[in-house]
Amino acid sequence: MAKMISGKGVDRRCVLGMMLSAGACALALRPVAALAFDDPKDDLLKLLPSFKDESRRMLLQLLRSPEFTGQIPAGVVKDLLSVERRTLPDLMNGLLPLAGTFSHAPISNFRVGTVARGASGSLYLGFNIEIPGQPLGFSVHGEQAVLSSAYMHGEQGVSAIAVTAAPCGHCRQFMQELSPNGAIEILVEGAAPTRLESLLPQAFGPKDLGRTEGAFPVRETKLTPKTPISDAVVQAALDAARKSYAPYSGARSGIAIATRPGRIHQGSYIENVAFNPSLPPLETALVQMIVAGDDYGVISRVVLVEVNGAKITQRSVTEAALGAVSAGVKLEAVTVAEG
Ligand code: THU
Ligand code: ZN
Repeated sequence: MAKMISGKGVDRRCVLGMMLSAGACALALRPVAALAFDDPKDDLLKLLPSFKDESRRMLLQLLRSPEFTGQIPAGVVKDLLSVERRTLPDLMNGLLPLAGTFSHAPISNFRVGTVARGASGSLYLGFNIEIPGQPLGFSVHGEQAVLSSAYMHGEQGVSAIAVTAAPCGHCRQFMQELSPNGAIEILVEGAAPTRLESLLPQAFGPKDLGRTEGAFPVRETKLTPKTPISDAVVQAALDAARKSYAPYSGARSGIAIATRPGRIHQGSYIENVAFNPSLPPLETALVQMIVAGDDYGVISRVVLVEVNGAKITQRSVTEAALGAVSAGVKLEAVTVAEG
């Protein structure tokens, strides 16, 4: 992913995030309005100039909906394809500038947008996130973000990913877990679709650690809380942990972020056979939160659910990353039993 999505001054980041009060930050970061211009229709015109008005209208309606979670449902994709008279790869590549507006890259200022196609036919928007003041290893690559979003939406697989340039080695390894047969197609504008297997030959994949399948399809494991749960945020974190993918450590975990607009964003841990590219649950949840139009300044609670006595814990990295984006919010950690 060598190229950056062109800036255009369309920036969802609260650049003064650390200095402004939470309220002011929230104001600057509402969905779509955060596209920074007075008229969001104008923004889409600047971002997607080659699209037809009708398509921009459909997208705007979707982006403005309080239910938008980064997914362009299969039905809307079908309508966009017929209005645009484009191929699917061309549509996906065309949406990259829009995806890039969600990027939070305060360290590199290198904004990445990605679009993935799930097995259901829905499309997802992805972008990179860098955690201010924290090690670079805490970053989420655009490709990881978009695949994690497809995962959080319960997709059974991902068939293609559009990127502005070929994905980096870290992303290729992350993708290997989500497409262990290497079949996922990588779409870069102006180039023929390439399968992962040709970008990552002789891959180290799940089978090298004895697995027959990768992260898809999303499965649920039984996890039992010590006492019945009546708190919706804890329940959401538990549900995210149940859907997490942790075949190598066994340490299932999930996060729920509650925000002041009254929403709850979930993130499941997505492990990788090569360990380091694993995506921690807070990072997965931040992708869901940002794409839904909430931002760091409106976080009110964060709950981490983990398995009691597991080989690893997400607690310290979650506290570090949370402290960097929302210093006033104390992590609530809950442990549950497997089975
Ligand atoms: N980045 C991606 O999102 N994808 C890639 O494949 C290459 C790099 C991001 C990570 C970091 O936020 C920034 O670009 C600079 O590396
Ligand atoms: Zn990458």
